[in-house]
Amino acid sequence: MTFSLPSLPYAYDALGPYMSAETLEYHHDKHHQAYVDMANKLVPGTKYEGKSIEDICKEAFADKNQPIINNVGQHFNHTHFWQWMKKGGGGSKMPGKVEKLVAELGGYDKVRSDFIEAGKGQFGSGWAWLALKDGKLAVMKTPNGENPLMHGATPILGCDVWEHSYYIDYRNARPKYLEAWFDNLVNWEHVESLVG
Ligand code: FE2
Repeated sequence: MTFSLPSLPYAYDALGPYMSAETLEYHHDKHHQAYVDMANKLVPGTKYEGKSIEDICKEAFADKNQPIINNVGQHFNHTHFWQWMKKGGGGSKMPGKVEKLVAELGGYDKVRSDFIEAGKGQFGSGWAWLALKDGKLAVMKTPNGENPLMHGATPILGCDVWEHSYYIDYRNARPKYLEAWFDNLVNWEHVESLVG
C-alpha cells in the first residue's frame, strides 16, 4: 500500500481569518507530506503492509512501534483534520445524530468547553477529540501522533494542537485557536458522516 497526500477540500485561503493560507500551506504541503513520506518508508515489507490505516494505527500502538504510531497515526489524523474544517463551519447547529450524542453528554456548551479544555490541557503536542466509545460520545486528548483508535474508541472530530497548526496565526495562544476553531471551522457534516 502506498500512502498519498490528499488534496485539501477547499482553497488555501478558504478558512481565513481563523486559519491562514500560510498555515495551511505549511501544515498540509510540508508537515502532512512529511508524515506520508515517512509512512511510505516505514511500512513496506513489514507486517503492517496491505492493512487498513485504521488497523495499522491499532496494531502499531499494541506493538509500541513508535515510528509507525507517529507517522501513520499523523497521516490518519491529518487526512480527517482537513475534512473536519470548512468555511463557515462551527457553532451549535449540527446534524441530527451528532446533535443527539452531544445532548447526551450534557449539551453543546458543556461539550464545547470540555473539548477546548482537553486541547488546552494536552501538555506539548497532540490532539483534542470527540470520539465514540461503547456507543457514547467522549471527549479525549492524546499526545503526539496518537488517536482514539489506539485507545479503543472511534474518532469523529479532532483538533490538531501541535504548534504547527496555530503558531503562525495565534502565536502561543492555543486557547484562542481552539475557541476560534470550534466556533468557526468545525465541519459538523463530516462529523455526522463518521457517527455511522
Ligand atoms: Fe498537524
